[in-house]
Order: sequence, then structure tokens, then C-alpha cells
Amino acid sequence: MTDMLTIARPDDFHLHLRDGAMLQGVLPETTRHFARALVMPNLLPPVVTTADARAYRDRILAVQPEAAGFTPLMTLYLTETTDPEDVALGAAEGLIAAVKLYPAGATTNSASGVRNFDAVRAVLERMAEIGLPLSVHGEVTDPRVDIFDREAVFIDTVLDPLRSATPGLRVVMEHITTAEGVAYARAGGPDLAATITTHHLILNRNHLLAGGIRPHYYCLPVAKRESHRLALRAAATSGEPGFFLGTDSAPHIDALKEHACGCAGCFTATNSLPVLAQVFEDMGALARLEGFTSRHGAAFYRLPPNTGTMTLERRANPLQLPEKILTGAGPVTVFDPGFPLYWHVAP
Ligand code: DOR
Ligand code: ZN
Repeated sequence: MTDMLTIARPDDFHLHLRDGAMLQGVLPETTRHFARALVMPNLLPPVVTTADARAYRDRILAVQPEAAGFTPLMTLYLTETTDPEDVALGAAEGLIAAVKLYPAGATTNSASGVRNFDAVRAVLERMAEIGLPLSVHGEVTDPRVDIFDREAVFIDTVLDPLRSATPGLRVVMEHITTAEGVAYARAGGPDLAATITTHHLILNRNHLLAGGIRPHYYCLPVAKRESHRLALRAAATSGEPGFFLGTDSAPHIDALKEHACGCAGCFTATNSLPVLAQVFEDMGALARLEGFTSRHGAAFYRLPPNTGTMTLERRANPLQLPEKILTGAGPVTVFDPGFPLYWHVAP
């Protein structure tokens, strides 16, 4: 059995770092393992201009642990008043790596998202011209659409028309959760890719709901039935370049997760690599872990591959991790995959 694996240092192409005391508390959990992360812009208020993104990047750099060697890749939150020129300038200076589309109301802090797609046409066309990816939260928000169907309906009614209307637009389907998402991403050619989270490779909706509601497994898009989880595992471990890691690690303090109206998000920054190594081992695909965590995403985003490496070791003793990260904003529960982790990241 393989018990040692060295891979290029991983990147996380979908991460929530928040701000202030929470940022300070959670950032080391990411910089310990990841070389770069695509930082989501859904702060309150959101990161909408290049100037906002620069200021946010500087706040991240100011609290990052010394010698972390970590590069935050910044995103802009697409609104109906986003200025195409501002986006292009941010991209040209290498600050902005993607623009994030949240349909209005889809998730945490998405009230400023897009309602009328005609209003963002000029921005999307400019992005297609310069090759800047649109990273998409792919769920419709129509309350008449069942929450378990929102991704599949989004693909048919929003994403596919949007891509047809904007030839050349490069799109990342974020945190896909369905077999339909896998199939659509796979068929989309070189301008379309999809991120897959750590937790959606582990959870189906029974884990969330059967035998008691488990708020720390509640995230958006919500975990689907088992057949979808299996489609995600097959895609992630397939070696296809259009699938790569975006953890969507999304910290909320316990008081807001264990709540009558609990927040969406699984906090996986701490243990994503050990969990993923186990998933890839279970799938007989350890040799393809590096592509998923460290190669495909950088290639899609046209970034140089990381030069540093990470070694994972399978040990006899399970990894002992804290149940919670204590941040200045409050405790944040670390994702529990439900099985012991034998893969350790070598120091
Ligand atoms: O589970 C989620 N949490 N999904 C999202 O789309 C947003 C995120 C957050 O910001 O908490
Ligand atoms: Zn997210």
C-alpha cells in the first residue's frame, strides 16, 4: 500500500476568509497547507470594485502568518452596476483572478447579486475578451423551485443561455453537487470547468438530515442524494482537467450554525488534505490527487504551477485535530468527515 505521497503544493480555488477577527482566526488553517486560494467576495458590504479587492487583499496579507508564502487570489462580486473598465484594470494588474456571480438571494450575503442578466452583459463581454473567468454560484433562487433541484434548473435556465449569449466567456461552475453539474461541466469544453468541495465528496443528504439535523453539515448548495455524491467522487478522481478543488470552506461561529435559522457553510480548511487523500485512496486514485488539488485549477486560471511540495504520510495512528478553531469572533467547528484520518500532512 502506498503510504507516502508527495504532490505540488495545493491551491484552493474557492475559499471564504471573512474579515476582522474571523479572518485572523481562520487564515492560518488555510496557509498551513495551501499556496494560493481564490478568496470569495461575499463580505458585508461585498467586495465590488478593484479598490475594495486591493484593500481586502491588504487586510489578508497584514494578518497572514509570517513566512506563510501564501498568495490570496482576489475576486469581485458581480452586481448590476459593476463597471467593465474597473474589472479589466483589476485583471490587467494581476489583482483580480475572477468575477463571482451570485444570483440575488442564493446564499450568505448575496443580497447584492444579479437579478437582471441584461444589466451585466457588458461586463461579461469584456471578461470574455480578456479571458477573465466568471465563477458562478449555480443555483436558482425562485422559491417555487425545490432546493434539491436548484442546481439542475440553474444549468438549464440560466447558465446554458448565459454561455450561449457570451461566446468565449470562461466559466467555473463553483461547488457542483449533482450528476447534472458533472455532465454539463464535462461537455463544456476548455472554457468551462467546475470546482468540487471536500465536504460534497463525503456528505449526502442523509448525513445532514437522517437521525437528527446536523447543522455543521448544512451548506449551500445543500448536499444531495447518494447517487450525486458518487458522481462527484468519480469526477474528482477522474483525472479530467476540468475538475479541481475549491473547498468552499466557509466559517461561521457555532452560535450561528447551531441556531433556529442556521448559517450555511462547512469549515474544511483544517482537514481538507487528509480527507481528500482518504477519498482518493478509497477510489484507487491516489496518483490523481495532485491533479485535483494542485494542477488543474492553476492551469484553468492560467497561473504558473506551484513549485513547492507537500508530503502526505499514511500513519497507523489517526490524526488528532481540534474539534473547534477558537477565533476572536467565536468558536468554529471543524468539519467532521465521520471517519478517522490516517493521512497526515508531513511538517
Ligand atoms: O455553504 C455556503 N456557505 N455556501 C455558500 O455559497 C456561501 C458560504 C458562506 O459564505 O457562508
Ligand atoms: Zn462559497
